[in-house]
Amino acid sequence: MPITTIIAPEEVRKTCSQWRSERQKIAFVPTMGALHDGHLALVKRAKELCDRVIVSIFVNPLQFGPKEDFASYPRMLQGDSAKLEAAKVDALFIPNAADMYPAGYQTYIFNEGMSEILCGHYRPGHFQGVLTVVAKLFHLVQPHVALFGKKDYQQYQLIKKMVLDLFFDISIEGIATLREKDGLAMSSRNLRLNSAERSEAIQIYRAMQLVNVAYKKGEKLKAKLLEIFTRELAKSAGFRLEYAEIRYRDDLIQSPDQLEKPAVILVAAYLGSVRLIDNLELGEL
Ligand code: PAF
Repeated sequence: MPITTIIAPEEVRKTCSQWRSERQKIAFVPTMGALHDGHLALVKRAKELCDRVIVSIFVNPLQFGPKEDFASYPRMLQGDSAKLEAAKVDALFIPNAADMYPAGYQTYIFNEGMSEILCGHYRPGHFQGVLTVVAKLFHLVQPHVALFGKKDYQQYQLIKKMVLDLFFDISIEGIATLREKDGLAMSSRNLRLNSAERSEAIQIYRAMQLVNVAYKKGEKLKAKLLEIFTRELAKSAGFRLEYAEIRYRDDLIQSPDQLEKPAVILVAAYLGSVRLIDNLELGEL
């Protein structure tokens, strides 16, 4: 049976409230499309957790800066829809921008702490766009569970914080980053790497792994760990590093020089015009 595809916000609200009235547990996977195995891992987990799974595909204009890649962001609805159908997703919601942000739209969700650091520092307004669209989608779908990839670690933590701060009755599941065989974190933006960049791209993961090895051997001094990262990344000439930081996991606050609590290394770097982000929870793997 072809997947049920819904465009109108009021229609998705109706479908989901029908499911709720039948006491079906709803899992929601919000995406911007160009689906890869990382997204499908979220869907798989969603199916394990709930009776109904709904996925949204919406390239949210609000989370792209004026000089960012909104126009060139990969859009491949037909292929995405086929993948979701094969994964036996119950419904696909593909709202249009005019319904999400009609003329005269005025209301936004703003986090005044964690959204301003790391990616938020380099992409002003980005997380306001993310949180606003996610809150709107949550209100329409009202899922029991929503799933997000930990590849976007800061986004995942910010969504958890929004849910906590605004009393959303939704449980947020973070799913481990899926990687290509060589270690590159799966991302829709990888499609835009040329073949030389694609081979270089794995260096971020390699460098983070070296940091992790040192951490597991007992090195807890942040400066030392970051030095290992930058030295390894510098072996590849193509990167323009935006940031590499080690922070405590839950709130991403700046951690002290000597790590005492579970931490994560977070990285953003450009290869040519493609901005890659990745992270590794230290002490894992
Ligand atoms: O991670 C993404 O794909 C997007 O930021 C999200 C959560 C779907 C909001 O547009």
